[in-house]
Amino acid sequence: MNELIMIQETEKWVKTQLENEGTGHDWHHIRRVTKQAKEMAKVEGADEVIVTLAALLHDLIDDKVVESEEEGLKQVTQWLTSIGTTAAQRQHIITIITTMSFKGGTNKPVTTLEAQVVQDADRLDAIGAIGIARTFIYAGSKGDPMYDPNLAIRDSLTLKEYRNGRSSAIGHFYEKLLKLKDLMNTKEGKKRAELRHQFLEEYLQQFLQEWN
Ligand code: ADP
Ligand code: NI
Repeated sequence: MNELIMIQETEKWVKTQLENEGTGHDWHHIRRVTKQAKEMAKVEGADEVIVTLAALLHDLIDDKVVESEEEGLKQVTQWLTSIGTTAAQRQHIITIITTMSFKGGTNKPVTTLEAQVVQDADRLDAIGAIGIARTFIYAGSKGDPMYDPNLAIRDSLTLKEYRNGRSSAIGHFYEKLLKLKDLMNTKEGKKRAELRHQFLEEYLQQFLQEWN
């Protein structure tokens, strides 16, 4: 298969795998991440085929989407073999998607430029207007409140007190979203994160002003 067809076929497969996904790992998330990843790969000089395939497949090993990470990995590996990727390409793509997810504290830093680009693209989709919408949808699906002043006490833009265990959509801004700007790997990723980060801060300010 030539590379264009490999990518087209993977798009179709991922779409069917993500039908009925309601946790923010839907096809549209994948489509947005893949588009930005591709654009950034060009600017950063990363391998576009690796970046595109890894972006398309990056959420298919999440245990919110498949039974287990192990099961997801098996399916993704089989898929990559069936479309004729080389062993080196497969290994690179698998390494990218297993190391890039933000699971608090324990995640290893991504090492290759291709991994950095895909991780940046995924992080961009977690901030800005879309990131805010995804956060509220996710919190709603878990039954978390949009905000609880007893859980999160705001002191300028740092979290003064955050009690363990319970969370809220606004709490997630402090736990993760506001940190992402400084975690961007690439120059292009940092650039693209700026406006989105600014929008998060403006949104928080307006939200808390209305709340109070
Ligand atoms: P991804 O790797 O695609 O960012 P995640 O599973 O980390 O996927 O999160 C999916 C979306 O839900 C993201 O936009 C993320 O910021 C948001 N999210 C994750 N955990 C929480 C939470 N505890 N409360 C609210 N939103 C969350
Ligand atoms: Ni993702």
